[in-house]
Amino acid sequence: MSAVKMDGKALSDKVRGSILAETEALKQRGITPGLAVIIVGNDPASEIYVRNKEKACAACGFYSEKYALPAETTQDELLGLIAQLNESPRISGILCQMPVPAHISAQAVIDAIDPRKDVDAFHPVNVGKIMVGDFDFVPCTPAGVMELLAAYQIDPAGKECVVIGRSNIVGKPMAMLLLHKHGTVTLCHSRTQGLDEVCRRADILIAAVGKAGFVTPDMVKDGAVVIDVGINRNAAGKVCGDVDPAVMEKASYMTPVPGGAGPMTITMLMKNTLKAAKLQNGL
Ligand code: GUN
Repeated sequence: MSAVKMDGKALSDKVRGSILAETEALKQRGITPGLAVIIVGNDPASEIYVRNKEKACAACGFYSEKYALPAETTQDELLGLIAQLNESPRISGILCQMPVPAHISAQAVIDAIDPRKDVDAFHPVNVGKIMVGDFDFVPCTPAGVMELLAAYQIDPAGKECVVIGRSNIVGKPMAMLLLHKHGTVTLCHSRTQGLDEVCRRADILIAAVGKAGFVTPDMVKDGAVVIDVGINRNAAGKVCGDVDPAVMEKASYMTPVPGGAGPMTITMLMKNTLKAAKLQNGL
């Protein structure tokens, strides 16, 4: 049996439609959500992500500003721009695309963004709020995964949820969101012993490793839900996930790459930006 493909593109279009409708209503009240996107240097993948974020803003009716800064930008210059954007009434959300060049501290950048405008939910204040389960902004990739699970009526409560990858952006917040939904969560990483065996326990397996084809069919329980967060390029330059497509034959539900978790991520950024605009206006 082949898994049901979880259509992140269709769900993303649907959510963007409802964000646009809410934005139109807000605009009637004189409120326009605004997102500032900063990119430092010219990493090709980051440039694509930033372009897609601008397109998504347009699709949702948002105001947006893009700051493409040269790789030589100093940390002080970048922090100066963030300080200005923190004060700008047109800007509800600020995002600095990661990674930043090595001479800039990513943590200093994250710390400089006003937590009320931190639509990535990377600031320690927002990370702490996620930990305690009382949060306004949800990190975009894990939020997209949770929306996909909900849309397909997959409830993590009581299930064995295995997350592979412990990054601050995906793995750690993913584990917390599943835990808040009452999953039994195991967070695996490069030093996990017996990884294959741990993965085989999973009812819900989430791969956020960054290695093409890392999860193979022998690591997956029959009927498991498999969510592939990876965006990699194989030797032929083709975009592929962390999960070997042959896993489709073992899983009950699975996200394709592209078209699964990816489109949801940017849509969740839009959702956070809308929320930021509302909160900043007392709504
Ligand atoms: N780089 C890779 N993913 C992300 C993300 O979600 N936000 C930002 N700011 N940079 C990233």
